[in-house]
Amino acid sequence: MEFETWSEQETFALGKSIAEKAKAGDIYCLDGDLGTGKTVFSKGFAAGLGVTEHVTSPTFTIVNEYEGRLPLYHFDVYRIADPEEMYEIGYEEYFYGEGVSLVEWAELIRELIPAHAVWITVEKDLQKGLDYRRIVLKEAET
Ligand SMILES: Nc1ncnc2c1ncn2[C@@H]1O[C@H](COP(=O)(O)OP(=O)(O)OP(=O)(O)O)[C@@H](O)[C@H]1O
Ligand SMILES: [Mg+2]
Repeated sequence: MEFETWSEQETFALGKSIAEKAKAGDIYCLDGDLGTGKTVFSKGFAAGLGVTEHVTSPTFTIVNEYEGRLPLYHFDVYRIADPEEMYEIGYEEYFYGEGVSLVEWAELIRELIPAHAVWITVEKDLQKGLDYRRIVLKEAET
């Protein structure tokens, strides 16, 4: 599925609408260059899960946990030097838990991502303007 957004607000709204359909155990992987809008999408996603707490990028903590309609496990693995660090934080408890996982920079830990994950890529296209983003969503093949 392919989406186009023309503002931060639209990307937030897209994240929100996708989260409204999320189920326990779902994993959403977010990839895209620095500053494309992964965290904006994540904030919308959190809102769509009913999270009311302020959502910040977990760049230094790797994972933040929020309470919503379902628990949200928001990862940002950008600073992970070695997938081994994921074992140290006990990532399996999250990926195979009762909440919904959302992973920024998931490509960096691709080998740890379960097959049922949904992959989302956020891309700029400067020819279409500074605020334009193409967001491609790929569901797992079942
Ligand atoms: N259509 C759009 N969708 C999302 N963000 C947009 C859009 N247009 C402009 N922006 C701006 O792009 C920036 C996206 O920042 P954000 O922190 O979400 O990126 P990121 O992909 O998480 O980056 P990083 O990899 O550094 O964590 C924000 O400053 C936002 O205002
Ligand atoms: Mg981010």
